[in-house]
Amino acid sequence: MYNCAIILAAGEGKRMKSSNPKVLHKVCGREMVNIVIDTVKKAQIENIDVVIGKGSDEVKKHTESRNVSYSFQEKQLGTGNAVLCSVSFLKDKKGTVAVFTGDAPLIKEDTIKKMLSFHNEGGYKATILTSLVKDPSGYGRIIREKSGEVSKIVEHKDCSEEELRVNEINSGMYCFDIESLTESLDKIHNDNAQGEYYLTDVIEILKGQGKKVGALPIPFEETMGVNSRVQLSEAERIMRKRINIKHMKNGVTLIDADNTYIELDVKIGKDTIVYPGNVLQGNTVVGENCTLYPNSRIQNSVIQNNVTIQSSVILDSTIGESTTVGPFAYIRPESTIGKSVRIGDFVEVKKSTIGDKTKVSHLTYIGDAEVGSGCNFGCGTVVVNYDGRKKNKTLIGNNSFIGCNTNLISPVKVNDDTYIAAGSTITDEVPEGALAVARARQINKENWVYKKGLKK
Ligand code: UD1
Ligand code: MG
Repeated sequence: MYNCAIILAAGEGKRMKSSNPKVLHKVCGREMVNIVIDTVKKAQIENIDVVIGKGSDEVKKHTESRNVSYSFQEKQLGTGNAVLCSVSFLKDKKGTVAVFTGDAPLIKEDTIKKMLSFHNEGGYKATILTSLVKDPSGYGRIIREKSGEVSKIVEHKDCSEEELRVNEINSGMYCFDIESLTESLDKIHNDNAQGEYYLTDVIEILKGQGKKVGALPIPFEETMGVNSRVQLSEAERIMRKRINIKHMKNGVTLIDADNTYIELDVKIGKDTIVYPGNVLQGNTVVGENCTLYPNSRIQNSVIQNNVTIQSSVILDSTIGESTTVGPFAYIRPESTIGKSVRIGDFVEVKKSTIGDKTKVSHLTYIGDAEVGSGCNFGCGTVVVNYDGRKKNKTLIGNNSFIGCNTNLISPVKVNDDTYIAAGSTITDEVPEGALAVARARQINKENWVYKKGLKK
């Protein structure tokens, strides 16, 4: 059986009070429309048309990588009109088209598969995904005949008193026999409370033609639409819970799953322990047996096995095996930290590589540098990488001992097995095996204080 899908994403989303199109708002780090596209693809529907309108350039830009086609809806005249805009996509196709909305990201892959088999096995011309809810306000109501068969969908604003009491709602997700859909789309009117062309009217039209319509109730947790920021945060909460349960099932310990924020694409190895307040973003990969103590943000980074991190920010970087980071470290993009390294408190590393077993324990800035292995940075070391006009490189060999409060004026090179005296300002290359001292000698002026009469 041939399947394709249409995703409606042309609406503005006025209730979001946003300058960005609604469907580009993110849930757990991914745009809602992309979550829908990805789920539909996982359910093995490859051919997807996205109806765009409001903010179409933006929506296109953010969905491009997903290999979908687009139809353009010039004016937002309603969901029925939106599907009508996709007729050239449907033209010459036979089989089933599934329709989704870009603002309902919680639908699951298995449910889509279930809908398709329910639709095909039941011989329906249309199948609606519905939900039974306590508070149906705002949603279209599923009106059933005494026999239990669906007769129509009535939008909230068009409901009679009696219809308002119906608590089975339209999820806005359906599948249709393509021919039956395209024929009835021409027949819908906009003589309703909102003056819109409702896709939902197709149901009554098909019934009028004696065609079979099915409805499949699914949990509201999957059908919830996002029309406001409050619903966006509710969707985020549901998705977050799903993500966290997946990781726990895979062998990750989450000390407080309600307060751990892991985006959709993040991977975590088994026996890793994540304390509350961690925000793991983008395509971050955390290895096995790591401990993420509270309150770090890690974005697009690779954390290898046995790493310990606490209260730090790590962006677009790699942290090698058995390294410890933090508390209060800042690892900025394009940094590669080796194995068994110690990056301590108030250390900032930017666009630098740090070799294995090097220790940078406190209060240090390392920028645009290549640091070898086995080095020790004293407290308060600064790589002076910026001369006021451009950034310069610093090279530090293996087993260098950098004394406290050293300035390394870049570009500069420090070779292997060197010592730098505390308080030095290094401007010239330090040869292998050397001790560099670059500071004024101390002089003591005997009895200076008493001579000045400053103390008895
Ligand atoms: C719609 C359904 C309602 C259902 C609810 C579920 C209709 C008439 N109503 O109502 O029965 O209970 O979804 O969430 O279908 N869109 C366009 N072009 C338009 C209008 C809308 O592309 O001209 C898109 C929007 O971007 C959105 C989706 O269609 O992604 C749904 O539109 P929305 O205005 O949110 O419809 P609801 O009022 O939620
Ligand atoms: Mg909606």
